[in-house]
Amino acid sequence: MLSDKMAQAINNQINRELWSAYLYLSMSMDAEAEGLRGIANWFYVQFREEQDHARIFMNYLNAQGCRVTLQPIEPVQQHWESLQAAFADTLKHEQKVTAFIHELAKQAEAEHDYATQNMLRWFIDEQVEEEQSVGDILNTLRHMAGLGQGLYLLDKDLATRTYSVPSPLATAE
Ligand code: FEO
Repeated sequence: MLSDKMAQAINNQINRELWSAYLYLSMSMDAEAEGLRGIANWFYVQFREEQDHARIFMNYLNAQGCRVTLQPIEPVQQHWESLQAAFADTLKHEQKVTAFIHELAKQAEAEHDYATQNMLRWFIDEQVEEEQSVGDILNTLRHMAGLGQGLYLLDKDLATRTYSVPSPLATAE
């Protein structure tokens, strides 16, 4: 059984995850429009992962007998001036999400809500991974500035990212 406050906080996080999905879908479509299909693939996988994150939180509320209340998704930016700008925004956004996840963890801890603390552990680890992978791409972009073939190679590299079902959903559906 969750407190109303905890259930509301998780509902808010579902909206943020869905907004994140919409943001990355927009980045994916922007990259497609620029003919960067590998970059578009990377953001499309990111789009799918964010939907999974929302689904994990929804499954958790359902399992706890709480109602999921879907809220409107706010509009997202449609175009980025450069790849650096898109990935810098991605890192900034993920850092914000990390802070929200930590806020949820703090609240769960204060309420002695052990089930929610346990559920959030996967997200805490996931955020470390997300920030690291985006940070790595930003570093690559920085190093390849001035290299003519760099963008071509990065686009080819990011085309290889594949989607896999996150472990909390692996047996759920
Ligand atoms: Fe759902 Fe990218 O954090």
